[in-house]
Amino acid sequence: MSALRTPPENLHEESIARGATCSHARRLRSQPKGHYSRLFPKPARPIAREEEAKLIQLGNAMRYKVEREGTLTPRVGYTYFGQFLGHDLTHDSTPFDGPYHAPEQTSNYRTPSFDLDHVYGGGPEKSPYLYEGEPGVEFFKIGATIPTGYLRDLPIAHGMVLIGDLEDRRNLDNLILRQLHVLFLKFHNEAIKQLDSNPAIAGLEELRSGTVFERAHRLVRWHYQWIIRHDFLPRILHTDVWNYQEQRANRHPDSGESYSIPIEFSLAAFRFGHSMVRNAYRLNCRQKRVVIDELMTLGQQATPIHDDYLLEWGTFFDGLPSSGPQASASFIDTSISLAMHGLSPGTIRLANELESTHPSNLPVRTLLRGARAGLPSGQEVAEALLAQGKIKPEDRLTISQLTEDTADHSGSVLRDIGLQQDTPLFYYLLKEAELKAEGLCLGPIGSHIVSEAIQGALEADPTGYIAAVGRKWKLPNWRFPSGSMRPINSLIGIVQLVGDDKLLPECEAHWRRFLLPT
Ligand code: HEM
Repeated sequence: MSALRTPPENLHEESIARGATCSHARRLRSQPKGHYSRLFPKPARPIAREEEAKLIQLGNAMRYKVEREGTLTPRVGYTYFGQFLGHDLTHDSTPFDGPYHAPEQTSNYRTPSFDLDHVYGGGPEKSPYLYEGEPGVEFFKIGATIPTGYLRDLPIAHGMVLIGDLEDRRNLDNLILRQLHVLFLKFHNEAIKQLDSNPAIAGLEELRSGTVFERAHRLVRWHYQWIIRHDFLPRILHTDVWNYQEQRANRHPDSGESYSIPIEFSLAAFRFGHSMVRNAYRLNCRQKRVVIDELMTLGQQATPIHDDYLLEWGTFFDGLPSSGPQASASFIDTSISLAMHGLSPGTIRLANELESTHPSNLPVRTLLRGARAGLPSGQEVAEALLAQGKIKPEDRLTISQLTEDTADHSGSVLRDIGLQQDTPLFYYLLKEAELKAEGLCLGPIGSHIVSEAIQGALEADPTGYIAAVGRKWKLPNWRFPSGSMRPINSLIGIVQLVGDDKLLPECEAHWRRFLLPT
């Protein structure tokens, strides 16, 4: 029988620490895990504070009248997988009102590697409230839904959702992300089981050392890293860049050069996902349209998820049973869902309870932060990549392209505010995705930044699969609930492994009727 490893006092200590949440308390308790870097020089003509009204105008214009629903864009599950992996790499706690320091002096409260520190916390020693089981063989605790008790939620105790880092609750941002997080807890638990029962997993040479917990952790991390590289990146990167990055030389983790996340990634390029967020989602056959604001509210509540809100993963990814059609992300373009133009204070404060909630408009926050932190303009980045031979001259956007009104009226606003030659990087990259990739993935410049940051994080990780066993790691065979033995090379593999492809009973009936029309 597994012992409960979390005496209530432990949680109480954490609660007290969290109860004292203010930015100075955060600084006392949490240690930064790294800093940031720059890929490109500072802007020649930075946008001054007196000019910020222009950015507010631009951010406000970045919205649709009517949402453009994608069909060839990545499935909606990848939007939230992007958010999940972004939260693993970067947490910049610079207060919105500043002061903004140089990237090398700006703390990153997450490790710059895909190590799932936001899921595992400090491991069983430092975050015992997350785990149960014998020492060295720890499982994650899983929460149950109401009323049925499906094991598909995060555990909740003392009115708190127990998550890897209690000071960084961003994975509770919305119900989709919360349920994606749970998939990784269950993947770990399954790894623990198969390390005991499946010779194909237990016998892996590369996993010989460490406790069962450590070996399971390594297996989960390596698969996650593999999936980022082979399932996620090809869906969001421009083909030219995907082909280019396939040939790049590995960064050497032992080169002594420490890796840090570039601000061009965290403050602009990877926020492209904000444009993929849709106004509403179909969750299953009971909940056919839930607006994103409601999903945020529900994700943040310290109450168990109701059965009605369990995600049918087959709607979020291809290749799984589903009682309705698969849904794709919103187009990657300058238009951002209306809900993101007015976030609740709770959403803004998920990672810092003293954060200023004004402005509540996410595109405006992103543009202002980018200017205050001294991001180069889109044009400066384009010229630098051209000089490095990484893009072609025709990859650059012209003024007429930038100022064209396409998805919304932001092109004319850009011209009116006079930033068509010094375009904020975030705006430039979204316009680039829209015009150079039809809104289906990032454009060449956005792809270079994202690829550089993500590949860099993968390669620089001394305990990641690339450093430990090389890019061509032969994935092991897992035993699936159906009895089949096969590798996991995609997110749907994880869903199937942990049995979360099962539908709610009446949704299952819908699916069967759909499969076998009478
Ligand atoms: C409903 C969905 C989402 C909400 C409500 C949301 C909200 C936020 C908020 C409030 C911030 C901090 C803003 C600031 O003060 O500057 C932020 C930052 C960020 N978001 Fe999102 N976001 C969502 C989805 C996504 C997605 C899908 C991605 C990527 C695929 C993403 C990537 C990022 C990144 C990289 C940051 C910067 C984090 C840091 O460096 O600390 N977000 N988001």
